[in-house]
Amino acid sequence: MKILGIETSCDETAVSIIEATGDIYSPSFSVIANMTHTQTEHEQYGGVFPMLAKREHIKNLPPITEHVLKQAGRSMDKPGIDAIAVTEGPGLEPALWVGIEYAKELSQKWNVPIIPVNHMEGHIASVIASTKSSVEFPAVALLISGGHTELVHVNNWKEYNILGETRDDAVGEAFDKVARLLDLRYPGGPKISALAEKARASRPNSPQFHFPRPMIHSEDLDFSFSGLKTSVLYKIRELETLTEETKEEIARAFEDAVVETLITKTKKAFMESNAKTLIIAGGVIANKLIRKEFEALAKELGVDFYIPSTELATDNAIMISIAGYLHKDDKAVDMKTLKAQGNLRLN
Ligand code: KG4
Ligand code: ZN
Repeated sequence: MKILGIETSCDETAVSIIEATGDIYSPSFSVIANMTHTQTEHEQYGGVFPMLAKREHIKNLPPITEHVLKQAGRSMDKPGIDAIAVTEGPGLEPALWVGIEYAKELSQKWNVPIIPVNHMEGHIASVIASTKSSVEFPAVALLISGGHTELVHVNNWKEYNILGETRDDAVGEAFDKVARLLDLRYPGGPKISALAEKARASRPNSPQFHFPRPMIHSEDLDFSFSGLKTSVLYKIRELETLTEETKEEIARAFEDAVVETLITKTKKAFMESNAKTLIIAGGVIANKLIRKEFEALAKELGVDFYIPSTELATDNAIMISIAGYLHKDDKAVDMKTLKAQGNLRLN
């Protein structure tokens, strides 16, 4: 089955075509064509600006789709597609609508069904693309991106429930806000982690600062990162002037606090379940320390560990096509009721 996937939930305009076969519990995929365009226009606003995202998606989605079809040796008139998978939420509603309206247009033109996809399920399913074996369930997935921080119990590829989530800022958002406090431009995550790496390389055993680990002792599996950001702000005010070294050390202490918090909560989720597999996904997994610490955690827990490739960790359309395949046999959607759902949840 050939699926064209469309992703426009945030600041990536992405289209892919995959060929999918097999049972949905042990599916296999090959990518026929794929393109992701990241909107850089948001940098000046320090975050993603919804109406600008919408305008850019409207401008870029048709040529990207044509380009991907061409890459696959097809065309708008001869697409050879069996279904269209499109992100219906969560995300920025004006941005989501662009993908949905375009999917509806193509669906009519090509006479193929639409499979609406939950973006977070896409992130979880992104790990299937890079594995040949079938994943053992149940699994616990930690989803960390600019918009979300969620611990999810994955019963199988179609049944999820949220175990814990952030009560305020998402992890990526916290990285971006701390970066802004240090005068670094959006997206700040990679810049903070580069500074933290420098600090560890230059002064391996002498961290200068320590920030609180938010909600680390709470009974639940929820997160909160806005207080941590405030601690960083107070520290910066106290220091008055920031040298390159203090910036590096702040980044390091912030990253350490985030990583310890994520690890502690994920470990707790395993203690409370019989999960056999750990999945981490979302744009923040590009962070090297996070990758390393979670790999070590999986070893310590004796569970399988899945992490998408960096290309599939940030928003992309391959993960949307894959999640679409998992729902290929669901009840057909009514075009009139298909709509953007900015706050769509996994359960
Ligand atoms: O999943 P994603 O591409 O988009 C959303 O759906 O949000 O995640 C983007 C987020 C941004 O907040 C960015 O700063 C963060 O991921 N990020 C990182 C790193 N690379 C990207 N955060 C920490 N360390 C990194 N190396
Ligand atoms: Zn995402």
